[in-house]
Amino acid sequence: MGTVITVTSGKGGVGKSTISGNISVGLANAGKKVVAIDFDIGLRNLDMILGLENRIVYDVIDVMEGKCKLSQALINDKFSKSLYFLPASQTKDKTVLDKDKVKKLIDELREDFDFVVIDSPAGIEGGFEHAILAVDIALIVSTPEVSSVRDADRVIGIIDAKSLKAQNGEEVEKHIIINRLKPELVERGDMLAIEDVVNILALPLIGVIPDDENVVSSTNTGEPVIRKKGARSGDAIKDIVQRLLGEDVPLLPLVAENRFFALLKRWFK
Ligand SMILES: Nc1ncnc2c1ncn2[C@@H]1O[C@H](COP(=O)(O)OP(=O)(O)O)[C@@H](O)[C@H]1O
Ligand SMILES: [Mg+2]
Repeated sequence: MGTVITVTSGKGGVGKSTISGNISVGLANAGKKVVAIDFDIGLRNLDMILGLENRIVYDVIDVMEGKCKLSQALINDKFSKSLYFLPASQTKDKTVLDKDKVKKLIDELREDFDFVVIDSPAGIEGGFEHAILAVDIALIVSTPEVSSVRDADRVIGIIDAKSLKAQNGEEVEKHIIINRLKPELVERGDMLAIEDVVNILALPLIGVIPDDENVVSSTNTGEPVIRKKGARSGDAIKDIVQRLLGEDVPLLPLVAENRFFALLKRWFK
């Protein structure tokens, strides 16, 4: 049985799709069979991050409505045989999703894949509850800003109330990812520091991703940043993938003198 990872947040625009896409590539690179699903109905962009937008014929709603077979909607990645993608629909009304159909789809995918990675809408959006319904591991993304952290706190409460696991009295594994950290701002006191975010959310931190212009150019070219040599954001996401796979990942010693990694060191000793 595969593991369902939902990448979620309170606020929009914090990097969920970027992280979902890149984590999916990273898990596939580690030899896992992975399906990435875009559950952000109406706002799809995981296809662009994966560079697969030209291959879309059917989408997740078509599958759930029985308009096509699951196998017809799954798109195989260009580079990785073990990575598949199930797109969101761009135009259709998200209220067509219903819990039973979502559960059936995810149960079917669990049979076939080691990891089902769900790119969720933000916590306030419709469809959020579907994206967290079958979650095993929730990755809660926040930028180091007060509003983002506060909204993240709210979605943690929803996961604990509405996911199937929580309803069955089981614990959903939850981790924080801090994205777009700018070390210079933290030092100046202009951004919440890592420890502030962790203290507020009271959950384990699984990674910190620096603000990195490589992310933008990657999305434009459809080449996930995790595949880009030397991209600091991509390296940070690789480390998150290793931690998800249960490895104790030490800091990269070659960049330890960098202030960003010096900040991190306090958390991953
Ligand atoms: N670490 C990062 N460094 C720089 N830009 C980033 C980073 N993460 C995300 N972005 C940019 O922020 C914007 C929102 O990211 P996205 O992944 O679409 O967020 P969400 O899915 O949460 O709405 C995009 O333009 C993306 O390229
Ligand atoms: Mg998104």
